[in-house]
Amino acid sequence: MKKVLITGTNGLLGQALVNELEKKYQILPTGQEEKSPIPMNNDIYECFDITNFSQCKNLINEFAPDVIVNAASYTNVDDCERNKEFCWQVNVKGVENLAQLARRYDIHLLHYSTDYVFDGKNGPYDENEKPLPLGYYGKSKLASENVLRQIGCPFTIIRTCVLYGTGREVKKNFFLWSLENLREGSPIKVVTDQYNNPTLAEDLASGSMLVIDQAAVGLYHMAGNEYLNRFDFVKNVATVFSLNEKLISPVETRELGQLAERPLYGGLKIEHASDHLGYNPRSVNEALIYLKWKLRDNE
Ligand SMILES: NC(=O)c1ccc[n+]([C@@H]2O[C@H](COP(=O)([O-])OP(=O)(O)OC[C@H]3O[C@@H](n4cnc5c(N)ncnc54)[C@H](OP(=O)(O)O)[C@@H]3O)[C@@H](O)[C@H]2O)c1
Repeated sequence: MKKVLITGTNGLLGQALVNELEKKYQILPTGQEEKSPIPMNNDIYECFDITNFSQCKNLINEFAPDVIVNAASYTNVDDCERNKEFCWQVNVKGVENLAQLARRYDIHLLHYSTDYVFDGKNGPYDENEKPLPLGYYGKSKLASENVLRQIGCPFTIIRTCVLYGTGREVKKNFFLWSLENLREGSPIKVVTDQYNNPTLAEDLASGSMLVIDQAAVGLYHMAGNEYLNRFDFVKNVATVFSLNEKLISPVETRELGQLAERPLYGGLKIEHASDHLGYNPRSVNEALIYLKWKLRDNE
């Protein structure tokens, strides 16, 4: 049985990874909080900061993983503009720590990046297109990819886009934000000019399992299978959850005055991952119906 160390397991993707990967592998879930909000089999969780090289070294030495799955990241796109040095520490230096140890011990390192490495002039993008990030978050994620290429450990980079879903004490993602407001009857403004393929966290976790099973290395784009704008996505949320669509009004990105510039035609082509790995994400409708049941179970 493969041994898999997972970082960032208190985040949205990290929680989905724990649920998926524990079905097949011996996992070590880690996160930077003292305690994990998710119930763990046998209390196996370890508190661990990827920016601390000696912590990385000790943990990797002790657990001796075959695979490291790095879901830890600084993900707030506007905060990355405000806290550039901190963003670099987590998104680049932290990855460098893991990559150096992965090379030393010949461990397969699976790392996540984003469609924000592209400028959004011409999406959706395939793996061969040239990145040109607009903001600091995208720049740091592209730099993290290059760290893996330069250090030369066995690696897989999965680029994904707009992750959504639910979990315990997770930060508000786009889906949760819209659902909460619509349930409260609060009007929301949603952009009509940002296009991408939103990705259910569970689908990405299943895709990650395919990578580990097949020991697939290189670059893969894994996202949802529908390309749409955020306004249409939220209208789908209202329909599936039987909420008032009239609360949603359209707005353009430039009216929001966000600190980080957003790629407008972002998103990713997923054919390479589908053809080579069998990656097969749900439709938006199927994903939202799944979330409706998951939320009902949790509530
Ligand atoms: N969310 C999206 O829309 C999106 C889109 C494209 C790509 N991605 C990529 O997908 C991956 C997972 O994203 P996500 O949405 O699951 O992010 P998330 O919910 O923000 O989770 C990231 C986790 O990493 C932890 N973390 C931060 N710094 C750390 C450190 N120094 N050491 C250990 N853990 C640390 C965070 O802890 P704290 O909460 O305590 O900071 C958090 O639990 C990331 O690589 C992200 O760049 C995400």
